[in-house]
Amino acid sequence: MAVYYSAEDKTFTLQTEKSSYQMKVDEYGALLHTYFGTKMDGSDLSYLLARTDQGFSGNPADAKNIRKYSFDALPLEYPVFGNGDYRVNALRVQAEDGSCSCDLRYESFQIYQGKYRLAGLPALFAKEEDDSVTTLDIRMKDRYSDLYVHLLYGVFEKTGAITRAAIVENKTRKPLKLLRALSSCVDFADGDMEMVHFHGKHALERMYESQPLFHGITQIRSTRGTSSHQQNPFVIFKKRNTTEESGECYGFSFLYSGGFEVLAEVDQTNAARVLMGIEEENFCFLLEDGESFTTPEVCMIYSGNGMAELSHRYHTTFLEHLIRSEWKDKKRPVLVNNWEATYFDFNAEKLLKIASQAAELGLDMMVLDDGWFGKRDNDKSGLGDWFVNEEKLGCSLRELVEKINGMGLKFGIWFEPEMISEDSELYRSHPDWALQVPGREPIRGRSQLVLDFSRKDVREYVEEKIYAVMDSANIEYIKWDMNRSIADVYSATLPPEHQGEVLHRYVLGLYEMSEHLLQRYPHLLLEGCSGGGGRFDAGMLYYAPQIWCSDNTDAIERIRIQYGTSFGYPMSTVSAHVSVCPNHQNGRITPLKTRGICAMQGTFGYELDISKMSDEEKEEVRQQVKSYNRLYKLFQFGEYYRLTNPFEQREFAAWEYADKEQNGAILSVVFTDVHANARPAVVKWKGLCESAQYEIEGKCYSGSALMHGGYLLPVPKGDFDSLMLHAKRV
Ligand code: GLA
Repeated sequence: MAVYYSAEDKTFTLQTEKSSYQMKVDEYGALLHTYFGTKMDGSDLSYLLARTDQGFSGNPADAKNIRKYSFDALPLEYPVFGNGDYRVNALRVQAEDGSCSCDLRYESFQIYQGKYRLAGLPALFAKEEDDSVTTLDIRMKDRYSDLYVHLLYGVFEKTGAITRAAIVENKTRKPLKLLRALSSCVDFADGDMEMVHFHGKHALERMYESQPLFHGITQIRSTRGTSSHQQNPFVIFKKRNTTEESGECYGFSFLYSGGFEVLAEVDQTNAARVLMGIEEENFCFLLEDGESFTTPEVCMIYSGNGMAELSHRYHTTFLEHLIRSEWKDKKRPVLVNNWEATYFDFNAEKLLKIASQAAELGLDMMVLDDGWFGKRDNDKSGLGDWFVNEEKLGCSLRELVEKINGMGLKFGIWFEPEMISEDSELYRSHPDWALQVPGREPIRGRSQLVLDFSRKDVREYVEEKIYAVMDSANIEYIKWDMNRSIADVYSATLPPEHQGEVLHRYVLGLYEMSEHLLQRYPHLLLEGCSGGGGRFDAGMLYYAPQIWCSDNTDAIERIRIQYGTSFGYPMSTVSAHVSVCPNHQNGRITPLKTRGICAMQGTFGYELDISKMSDEEKEEVRQQVKSYNRLYKLFQFGEYYRLTNPFEQREFAAWEYADKEQNGAILSVVFTDVHANARPAVVKWKGLCESAQYEIEGKCYSGSALMHGGYLLPVPKGDFDSLMLHAKRV
């Protein structure tokens, strides 16, 4: 068991292989946070909590006149609003009389082998026989009412993940309103830290930014109803001098695909409180007596050895305990998607031309993107009408798929199930199925409205339509898209007092539908998408083992996008395609070789009309596909290393995949700047065996030489030249 309770000290110590986390129940029954960091022996560390009379920090009633005891100056495990703690808090509850007051004290605990589950929500899991995973459930109670909060912890000894969630139970015999219900809080004694986060926009997601905390509140959030392009629900708190290889850092990943917030407050004692949970501006949950609310899960990981180890721990945790798809362990199909090849302008003939070329070049799958259904020749109409436009195709879907299968290719298809166009049969018959505020004109995004997925009847209708298409042909892959932010958050069927629940209910509806889809088609390869990577989060990975990383297919911009994504997500989840030049998003011209190398950084595919390529280019594609097929195990299962930071290093970008058994590695380099009279640069390999010999392009080097001395790169031969090296152990 990885959780230890000391009855003498009243401490809970959570132990993983390399980290410890500790809480203590004090003399007033408050649950204090006493430690999170490098593994320690479990000693009660509460002696570190200095108690002083902190002016203007009030004292709870039962501490009477002991001025040295204040919730405003103590590290609280799950801080609440209204107990005299003025810092940001995790829970704000409003009683029927309008008062907002709560004072949580410890009541009891339970420890058991295995991992708790959260109804209707994604959560890390443990295999039944795995005794290295333990659950701790601490029950807290309001001092004045029968409001209970279960604080749940899942401890993954081997990967170092510690998960958090809270269940709020109303047994007060009266209704309560949850105005805020966040999932996790950690009070760090020393607020001198930086927050690394991943901001962006459509077609430029997950840009790395590191920001020192200051006295005040740092907040990142998405109020868009999805995790969003603009912010990502994964953050790292690190010491100023922490690098890839050394120093302390703490990751927080939210297993949720809706709006979220991260708050970091440095207080008057220079301590930092870090909170993560559902975004509160769009949130108000009514709990009747007897009802409970479950927050989504946060996955926290500590590394004392820099950010490379932190990322590796996240990658392993998500591959072993989050992603359920059988595709996680199988070679992903190398696919060609027709979006940038044809956009809406296609018929079966055009598609079959691309497919037959794909088959000839050794690809595995053809994906039919947007435009095959309803009246959908541009992005202004048709969403919601999920029936095949046979007139446009010139045949039935079954006929098309049979022909594609006949060429030896699998077939995949695009859906955008959460959306509705006003110009659609569905909208004409069910206008109230869209989220809209009565009496107001809707806010449109990409000329479309959002279906009310908080409603079961709406979900059931869409499910049936998707199933009918799925059952009509041999479809082995779905790209599930979502192409706007949510506005007009109002559901036509919910009573007024429940309207604050719509967005969360929407996310629960989305999860339920994804679950149904995977139950019905257990072998389906589901790819997540939201205008590229607008919903790239750990919640989605519970259902989809890969996510379209960005609508930006330019290889050079993808280097930064994929760099940022790699911190919190395994590279096999990063869907990346080779596209045409000049690039459709930014007009840049890059060599086909470089486009291939950048797309192989993730789950590989093509998105251009390969039938229009020159013979020379076709031959290059054939070779790229061969290389990927030969090396996919390293790409999919290797340990990923960021060798350069593309935000700082101008000359070249480099990254590597090392076999976990140290039998080989692939190193990729893209030259992002070229100079006259250049000197060759050196790059140091990672993750090799010091004493083993490795062969690279016919020459032998020791692991030690490659890792400490490095490898001499050639001088680039022009803009965006690149190379991929395979080191094979001899
Ligand atoms: C989104 C996706 C694209 C493509 C289009 C189709 O933008 O990210 O890959 O599927 O929609 O409309």
